[in-house]
Amino acid sequence: MLKLAVFVSGGGTNLQAILDAIDEGRIADARVEVVISNNRKAYALERAAQKGIAHLCISPADYADRDAFNRELLQKTASYSVDLIVLAGFLVVIPPEMIAAYKNRIINIHPSLIPSFCGKGYYGLKVHEGALKRGVKVTGATVHFVDEGTDTGPILLQKAVAVKEDDTPERLQRRVMEEAEWKILPEAIRLIAAGRVQVENGKAIVR
Ligand code: GRF
Repeated sequence: MLKLAVFVSGGGTNLQAILDAIDEGRIADARVEVVISNNRKAYALERAAQKGIAHLCISPADYADRDAFNRELLQKTASYSVDLIVLAGFLVVIPPEMIAAYKNRIINIHPSLIPSFCGKGYYGLKVHEGALKRGVKVTGATVHFVDEGTDTGPILLQKAVAVKEDDTPERLQRRVMEEAEWKILPEAIRLIAAGRVQVENGKAIVR
C-alpha cells in the first residue's frame, strides 16, 4: 500500500482527482493518509474532511521564522509515515531537509510542458498568462519529481493541450486542469504504486 501525503494551497481539484481515482479503483494500492495546507481557507481541506481524511493547516505565518515552520512541516509529515509526498497546487517552497529526507519521493504537478513557463514566478494563472503572451499553440501539464530547484526535477509524465484562439488565462487554466492535470497526476501515482517508476541518472523511467 503506497501511503500518500498531499500538500495543497487552494481549491483541491487535483486532490479530488486523486481521491476519485482511488475510490473508483483506477489507482490500486494507494491511500491518502494526510492532507496538509499552508492556507487554512483552502477548500482542499474541506474535500479531505468530507472523506474523513486527516487534514491540517501548517502556515508559515504561524511560526516565528521559516526554520520553525520547516521543522513542523517535516515533523508532522513524518508522523504519518508516508511513502510519497504529492504537491497538488502547493505554493510554499519545500524545505531542503524534506527534499533530502524524501529523495525521489516527492512529485509535483505543474500546469505547463516543462521546461516552458516554469521556475520562479510561474505558478497558477501566471503560467497560462505566459503561454498566451508567447502565443504557443500547445501547452499542457507535467508531473515531475521534486529536487532542490524550482520545477527542475526528473519529468515523469506530460500531457499536451491545444491553445484556442479565444482563450483567456482562466479558460486555458480550466482546460489544462480538465484535460491534463486531473489525468496525469492520478496516473503518476498509479504507476508509482505499481512499482513501475525508477529514477536513473536524473531521468524518470516507466517500466
Ligand atoms: C492548479 O492550477 C495547478 O496547476 C497548480 O495549482 C493549481 C491547483 O489547483 N499546481 P487545485 O488546488 O488542485 O484545484
